[in-house]
Amino acid sequence: MIYLSSNARQLLKARYLRQTDGIETPDDLFKRVARHIVTVENENNDLWFDRFYKVMRNLEFLPNSPTLMNAGLPNGQLSACFVLPVEDNLNTIFTTLKNAALIHHNGGGTGYNFSKIRPKDDFISSSEGSSAGPVSFMKIYNTATEYVKQAGKRRGANMGILNINHSDIEEFISSKSDLQSLQNFNISVGITNDFMHALEEDKDWSLVNPRTNKISKTLSAKKLWDSIIEQALKTGDPGLIFLDTINQNNPLKKLGKIQSTNPCGEVPLFNYESCNLGSINLKKMILQNSTHIEIDWKKLERTIIIAIRFLDNVISCNYFVLPNIEEITLSNRKIGLGVMGWAELLILLDIPYASNKAVELAETVMKFIHEKSYNASQSLAKKRGCFPSWKQSSFAPHMILRNATCNSIAPTGSISIIANTSYAIEPLYALAFKRTGILENNTQMEINTTFIDKMKSLGLWSEQLRSEIIEKGSIQHVKNIPKHIKNLFKTSLEISWKYHLLHQSAFQRYTDNAVSKTINLPNTTTFKEVSEIYKTAWNYNLKGITIYRNGSRDNQVLQLCGFN
Ligand code: CDP
Repeated sequence: MIYLSSNARQLLKARYLRQTDGIETPDDLFKRVARHIVTVENENNDLWFDRFYKVMRNLEFLPNSPTLMNAGLPNGQLSACFVLPVEDNLNTIFTTLKNAALIHHNGGGTGYNFSKIRPKDDFISSSEGSSAGPVSFMKIYNTATEYVKQAGKRRGANMGILNINHSDIEEFISSKSDLQSLQNFNISVGITNDFMHALEEDKDWSLVNPRTNKISKTLSAKKLWDSIIEQALKTGDPGLIFLDTINQNNPLKKLGKIQSTNPCGEVPLFNYESCNLGSINLKKMILQNSTHIEIDWKKLERTIIIAIRFLDNVISCNYFVLPNIEEITLSNRKIGLGVMGWAELLILLDIPYASNKAVELAETVMKFIHEKSYNASQSLAKKRGCFPSWKQSSFAPHMILRNATCNSIAPTGSISIIANTSYAIEPLYALAFKRTGILENNTQMEINTTFIDKMKSLGLWSEQLRSEIIEKGSIQHVKNIPKHIKNLFKTSLEISWKYHLLHQSAFQRYTDNAVSKTINLPNTTTFKEVSEIYKTAWNYNLKGITIYRNGSRDNQVLQLCGFN
C-alpha cells in the first residue's frame, strides 16, 4: 500500500495518471515507469525493475515530471530541461520557436540566450527595414507558449537570457516590470566577471551591438546594476546567471561556451542539449528509534546508486523530439540527481535551518551525494562505456564516467508534493497555508505534517495551536513554545537571506550542474539588501541567483514554481 497525501493523490490524478485503458492507480504509474526504464538493462531485469519501482513507490526517489507522465507511452519524452539556439536571423528564431513548441508539448522546458539578436531598430539589409529586437521576439515566444500545453497538462516554461553588454539590456531588464508581460518566462541577465569588476571599481560599461560589434552606448556599471536591483526588488525579475562561473566549471570546454540554462536555472546546457533530473527525498533517508534519529548513510548510498542508474537509463530509453537534441544528449549523457525534503530532514534532526550546523551538514550531505554519484557513474562507465564525448572532457584520461554531469538541485515544484515533503533545499514556506494552483479553481488548506508530528511528540499539539497556525502560518508569536522549537520551525521569510544563500552555496560546492533556489525575502527588504544579495551570490561562486520579495507579484501562488 502506498502512503500518499491527499494533495499528492489529487495532483497525480489531475496530471500524471494515464486515463486511456481505465484509470491508472499511483502504483500502476510507478510500475509503468519502472517497466520502461528497465528495458535498458541486459541482465537481472526483475531485480532492477524491483529496485526502480520500490524507490519510487516508497517516495525515496522520484524522476522529473515528464518521466512520470510519459514513460512507456509511444514517443514518450522524458526530460525536463532543454536549451535551444537563437541566432540573428528569422530562420533560426522561428525554427527554434517551433522546436520549443514541440518540446513544451511533450512536457519539457526551454532556455535560450537572445544575445546574438541585433538590437531593436537596427538595420536589416534584406528588407531595408528596422529590426524588432530580442525583447519583441521573447514576447512572441511567450505568446506561443501560452497556447501550447505541456503534455496536455500545464503551460511550458522558458528561461530568457540577455548578456549584460547587449545594446538592448536596459529594455530587457525592465521587460517584466509590467506584471502581465512575459509571464511564461523567467528572465536572467547574463553577467560576466568583467562586468562585476567594473562594478566594483565603479567604472563605465559599454553596450555593444552584436551585429556590428560596435559600441552603442556607454554608461556607468553602477547605473546598470542599480536598474537590475530596482526591478528585482519590484517583481523578482531579472535574476542573474554568472556566465564565467558556469564556463569555468564546464567539463566540456572543448565543445565551446555554455550560454544558457534550463528554465529554473539548475542545468547549464549547450544548444540543443537536454538533461533529465531526479531527486532523492532526504526525509526518507533516516534511521530512527524511539529516542534518536540520524541520517541513514547506507540507505542514502544505495538510493544514489539506483537513482544514477535510473537516470542513465532514461537517456537510453528516451524519445528525442529532434535529431540535434538526440545527438548532443547521447554524446554528453548529462543527468541531474538532486534532493528534496532538506528542510524537513533538518527538522527531524532537530537542527534549525538558520544555523551553522545546518550549513555544515548541507556540505557533508551534498559532498556524499556527489562522491557516490560519481562512483556510480564510474561503475556504469566500466560496464556500458564512457559518455561518447568523454575524450574531449576534463575527466579524460584518468577519470572514467558515464555522464558528463551527475548532479543538479531542481526546484521539485511538483514531485515534492507527490512525495509530501519540502521543496528541494528550501526552508518551509509556512507551517500552514492555502495552496492554490495544484488544480485550477481549487484551494487547499494544509498544515505541515512533519510539524504536527513533532509538536505531538513534544506534547505541544492542541486545537488552539491548530487555529493559531491556520491564522498566522507561523509559531514565532505563539506563547508557551520553547525558543529552540521556535527556531526549528522558522519559515522562509523568518530566515535571514544570509542563511538562504549559505545553504545555496553549500549545496553548489558539490553540485556539478547548478542549484535552483529562490531567496525568499520579506516585503520590507530594501534595495541595498537586494544589491548585497546579488553581489554575495557572485562572490560565493554561485551559478545563478533568484530572489522573490513577498507580495511583489499579486498572483503569488507558489513562490517557488510560478509555472505550476
Ligand atoms: O517537480 P517537477 O519534476 O515537475 O519539476 P521541477 O523540479 O519543479 O522543475 C524542473 C525543471 O522542469 C525546470 O527547471 C524546468 O526545466 C522544467 N519545468 C517545466 O518545463 N515546466 C514546468 N511547469 C515546471 C518545470
